Amino acid sequence: MPVDLRVRLGALELANPVLVAAGTFGYGLEFEPRIPLHKLGGVVTKTLTLHPRQGHPPPRLVPTPAGMLNAVGLQNVGLDAFLRDALPGLARAGALLIVSVLGESPDELTAMCRRLETEAGVSAIELNLSCPNIAPMAGSGLMVAQDPDATAMMVQAARAATAKPLIAKLSPDVTDIGVIAQAAERAGADILSLVNTFTGMSLDPDTRRSRLGSLTGGLGGPAIRPLAVYRVWQVHHAVRCPLIGLGGVLHAEDAVEFFLAGASAVAMGTANFTDPAAAVHVVRGLERYLARHGIGSIHELIGAVQEGHAVGR
Ligand SMILES: Cc1cc2nc3c(=O)[nH]c(=O)nc-3n(C[C@H](O)[C@H](O)[C@H](O)COP(=O)(O)O)c2cc1C
Repeated sequence: MPVDLRVRLGALELANPVLVAAGTFGYGLEFEPRIPLHKLGGVVTKTLTLHPRQGHPPPRLVPTPAGMLNAVGLQNVGLDAFLRDALPGLARAGALLIVSVLGESPDELTAMCRRLETEAGVSAIELNLSCPNIAPMAGSGLMVAQDPDATAMMVQAARAATAKPLIAKLSPDVTDIGVIAQAAERAGADILSLVNTFTGMSLDPDTRRSRLGSLTGGLGGPAIRPLAVYRVWQVHHAVRCPLIGLGGVLHAEDAVEFFLAGASAVAMGTANFTDPAAAVHVVRGLERYLARHGIGSIHELIGAVQEGHAVGR
């Protein structure tokens, strides 16, 4: 039975619903040609800032039960160097490219989005409003995506500069993610991406210090999957715009959980560290899942969770 993996997220059309997540696949080219980028739904770049950043001191990654804590601290080459050195190769590889950006002020974000607006090889812009590994906003001590007003201000600043599909990436570390999602949607976000890592700590009892080079980090991997699926479900009931779900996707069935909760696509992060081809395997696994269940299109699964227990299945 022929199955259709194509999905449409507003104006953004993907050949399949499996992306690689920001910060976990380099700038995208590192794995070419071993991983055929055109076979992925899309590549989200590591988050870029206007100026290059060195990031945090090592260690930056600490394994945890069923997950990984990271404190990379947004090391990156800066937007201009990325556009000059990586973008042409990504275009040649046929990748659908989503560029992740973080502006340290609304004006800076406007400038970055204006710069991206003229780049034909960039299909969408993802706003990282939820990085747990950078200094919080002065005054409030919060991440942007922990405050509905700050979220709206940043999304508006980006929206003013671009007609490209705009994705707002949200934090799970909030009391009510639906309120933040609504603020982002009202301010002009076309798509929401959830979730970023959960803020966490891992402490060494012998040295009494953090196992990371910084005190706190962000937790990703299978440990967070049920928490992330729940937040997708919450946001699906709070907004109308399409969602990208992420958090601990390793296999096709994990992705299906996110679709059932309301996501139109998934992104894979921590899984890339054990197998850079993990997303390609999930695409094939989804084909098999749809064929096995007699489902013609991914769209049939989106938000299709059934009420009641799975007793007897
Ligand atoms: C090492 C590492 C670096 C990350 N860097 C970024 C980043 O630059 N920008 C961003 O938006 N998210 C970043 N993330 C978060 C992931 O994109 C993703 O939201 C999170 O890890 C949850 O997905 P997962 O459980 O599949 O890893 C990073 C995650 C990891 C593990």
